Amino acid sequence: MLPSEIERLVKEAEKARDTAIVPYSRFRVGAALITIDGKTYAGCNIENISLMLSFCAERAALIKALTEGEKRFRAMAVVSGDGRYCFPCGSCRQMLAEFAPGLDIYLASPKGIKKFSVSELLPHRFQK
Ligand code: THU
Repeated sequence: MLPSEIERLVKEAEKARDTAIVPYSRFRVGAALITIDGKTYAGCNIENISLMLSFCAERAALIKALTEGEKRFRAMAVVSGDGRYCFPCGSCRQMLAEFAPGLDIYLASPKGIKKFSVSELLPHRFQK
């Protein structure tokens, strides 16, 4: 990804973060996923009074893309609302590893951008 493309993806993640529904944690997260063809899908975290049903931003973006039939992904940007890097949770890592194994993951904060591969974040993922 070119620096300008990464910047654009981070901006989309920041925009999605604004729509987060977080009455319980007050912790906003936004994610934006770009396909090999350059289409983007953004997601935010959505919390629910039945707390275990809360949904992460990364999986929201991934599910949006998968339900549109997308299969090949290039990169994802993730931003939180507290100025720190937001590392994807274990469930998101497992799903990204299965559906987007070649993804570059860019974690953005006011301090800068860090890049990770999926296998760096989740080595030895569960598979059958
Ligand atoms: N969350 C995400 O959306 N992505 C992550 O990678 C970690 C956590 C959400 C879940 C919950 O809504 C809030 O952030 C943390 O309590």
